[in-house]
Amino acid sequence: RQIANKNSNKTVFLNKCHFTWDLDCSKPKLLRLTHKMEDFSTEKGNRWLGHNYNLWGFIQYKLGLKEEAKGSFQKAAKTLNKLRNADEGAWLVVNYGNLAWLHHDLGELEESQAYLSKVHLHPEIPSPSQDKLHPEIYAEKAWTLMFLKKDMNLVVDYFEKAASMQPDMVEWNTSYVIASFNAHKNNNMRLDTDLLEKMRQAKERDPENLYLAALYLEQHAAEVRELAGNVSTLCCSNSGMWTLLNLYRKYISADEAIVLAEKVLKEHPDVRFLKRLVAFCYRWRIVYKSRNYPDPEQSMVDRAIPLHEELLKLYPDDTLENEIDLATIYAKSHHSKDKAEQIYQKLLTNEPAVPKDKQMLYNRYATHLYFNLNDSHRSIEYHMKVAAIPEKSSFRKNSIRVLKKNKDRGIEEFLRNLQEPTQ
Ligand SMILES: *[C@@H]1O[C@H](CO)[C@@H](O)[C@H](O)[C@H]1NC(C)=O
Ligand SMILES: *[C@@H]1O[C@H](CO)[C@@H](O)[C@H](O)[C@H]1NC(C)=O
Ligand SMILES: *[C@@H]1O[C@H](CO)[C@@H](O)[C@H](O)[C@H]1NC(C)=O
Ligand SMILES: *[C@@H]1O[C@H](CO)[C@@H](O)[C@H](O)[C@H]1NC(C)=O
Repeated sequence: RQIANKNSNKTVFLNKCHFTWDLDCSKPKLLRLTHKMEDFSTEKGNRWLGHNYNLWGFIQYKLGLKEEAKGSFQKAAKTLNKLRNADEGAWLVVNYGNLAWLHHDLGELEESQAYLSKVHLHPEIPSPSQDKLHPEIYAEKAWTLMFLKKDMNLVVDYFEKAASMQPDMVEWNTSYVIASFNAHKNNNMRLDTDLLEKMRQAKERDPENLYLAALYLEQHAAEVRELAGNVSTLCCSNSGMWTLLNLYRKYISADEAIVLAEKVLKEHPDVRFLKRLVAFCYRWRIVYKSRNYPDPEQSMVDRAIPLHEELLKLYPDDTLENEIDLATIYAKSHHSKDKAEQIYQKLLTNEPAVPKDKQMLYNRYATHLYFNLNDSHRSIEYHMKVAAIPEKSSFRKNSIRVLKKNKDRGIEEFLRNLQEPTQ
């Protein structure tokens, strides 16, 4: 405002720097922002680093650190040029404005004037039309308002303007989509398919943007939840339920998948396949994905055991697999671990006749030996038994993969001499 009085030239110009953007913040917030900017400046490949330094300088100024502010503005200019691979351009307008303001404030009127002249006279920076700003300014202002969590609708508007004026700046377009998403969320509005489609396209254009990818995924988690919302419609499609529970496990959590599966089973206690699905959810949580979660509560194991026992009766033709599954649960139980080994011993004594079944049994017993009994020697023996059966199967493939990791000479020799499955 002081400057504006002295030279009407600057009135227009000064709409284009932090000091005229109405960014007032309380002192505690300014201090918090400082930490945020420190963290932000250490992010690798940060495409907004120049803007970060511009804002940082402004905040230092607000905190009374004028020399530090000057240092940050200079860093901003360097960074912006480096990111653009050029020495001058419209991306510096905001920076020049900040420096002009600061120098003026320090009583360095000549320097101040010099920065103002750069904006007006530099051929690289043509004057924008009356009612439009440079896209660079829209983008920087949008980024700044977003960083300060100011008016999200303005952020959307500015990013949209910037992106449409300069379509090759992928990150402006991405930011436009992200800001639209956040504005929708802030206003508690449902995302329409149009915005979701925009997110999908933006993700394709800008695959390295982790934030966007995570938001997109989160959105799907919300959709999965919504799909699961009406439990009464869920039942009675085996593959629908199966797919939904898989989505839950992938995008939400294995624990919530169990809760959902139990809820549906409670409403439809007579539907057989639901029991199988619920049992699978437990098995997934207790056995297969146990590394990603805290150890399962014993109560969870105690619920899973009778469920798996019931499956033996419900599916008499799948007994072998179901018994093995039951054994994997017992192995994780605190009070009946031995039952696992008992089941395996019983199954091994009455060896199955079908080669594929044999492979399954040996392969899963090998896994049991390795992970539950810490007996890698016998585990290898069983993997070798699997591989020796010349029958194509996922179990054989898995066993061979395990064996190949083993650098033992005898095993290498064994693998070389393996008979290939005929079919
Ligand atoms: C506008 O700024 C330029 C460059 O600093 C200066 O030469 C010119 O006299 C100014 N015009 C007005 C009307 O102040
Ligand atoms: C973002 O990019 C897409 C694809 O290039 C384009 O259709 C869309 O109009 C762009 N958005 C804006 C705001 O320019
Ligand atoms: C759930 O689905 C049932 C059966 O289609 C329907 O009658 C019921 O209105 C739905 N409930 C909700 C809350 O959507
Ligand atoms: C597993 O067995 C190896 C010897 O084969 C032993 O050194 C190791 O301490 C055992 N680990 C556990 C957890 O029992």
